[in-house]
Parts: sequence; C-alpha cells; structure tokens
Amino acid sequence: MRVLVLNGPNLGRLGRRQPEIYGTTTHAELVDLCVAWGAELGLEVEVRQTNHEGVMVDWLNQAADDRIPVVLNAAAWTHYSYAVLDACAQLEAPLVEVHLSDPSKRPEEFRHHSVVTAYAVEVVAGHGVDGYRMALEVLARG
Ligand code: DQA
Repeated sequence: MRVLVLNGPNLGRLGRRQPEIYGTTTHAELVDLCVAWGAELGLEVEVRQTNHEGVMVDWLNQAADDRIPVVLNAAAWTHYSYAVLDACAQLEAPLVEVHLSDPSKRPEEFRHHSVVTAYAVEVVAGHGVDGYRMALEVLARG
C-alpha cells in the first residue's frame, strides 16, 4: 500500500527550528525514518514538505484522485486553512493527522483548533517524530 506523508510550512527546518518544542531530528532524517518504518509495516511511503499552501492542496487533491492514504502534518495551516480543510474533506482513503508537539496543550489559543481533525481517522500529537511511526501503524492496521 502506498502512503503519502505530507508536511506543511516550516517543517523543512526540523532539527534547527525551536528544538525545545520540535526536537533535534532533521526533516531529511524524518524522511528516512518514515520510509524505513513504512517498509517494516509493508507500506511504500513517500514524504513531502512544502511551505506553499497551493502545493499542499495539489498533493491532497492527487491523494483524493488516486485514493492514497495520507499522514498529514499541516503545521500552522492546521489552525486556519479552509483550503486544506476542503482538500481533506475530499479524501476517500484514511487520513491520520500528526503533530510533533501537542497543540492542544500549548499556550497559544490559535493552536487549540484544527480544521483537519474532522476528517482524520486518528490524531497523533505530542510524541515527536515517533508520532509519524504511530500514524503509519494506524494506516497499516487498516
Ligand atoms: C505542529 C504544531 C502547529 O501548531 C505548528 O504551527 C507547527 C507544527 C507540530 O507538529 O507540532 O508548525 O503541527
């Protein structure tokens, strides 16, 4: 089974971006981990990251067209992007929402709402990069 892991804005700087919140694993290392975890679970994983909302919408539309399961960390778009919401609403294969931190426990009020959650079969938050493994396990379980 093919799976897309889609990461939104600022996640390309993982490892250097606020490591006290997001950890020290780089995005390149996260890609390798996801591909290896996927292989162990019998999944063919492709990881992408973009800072451009339209690109993310194109990728989600492609996942809808091809009925590909998605692991999505929409980063800040999680909290306000109705374009990402509309794209998630069109998915037919399962979507798992993932966050490195737990936005619901962070002090900024704007992080407490997610436009993605209504369309997700599960939300994995607050487990750092390990959360991506947990999200892939959810999809592998079916
Ligand atoms: C994040 C949490 C979001 O609130 C934030 O905007 C991010 C990363 C996370 O993985 O913890 O960019 O999605």
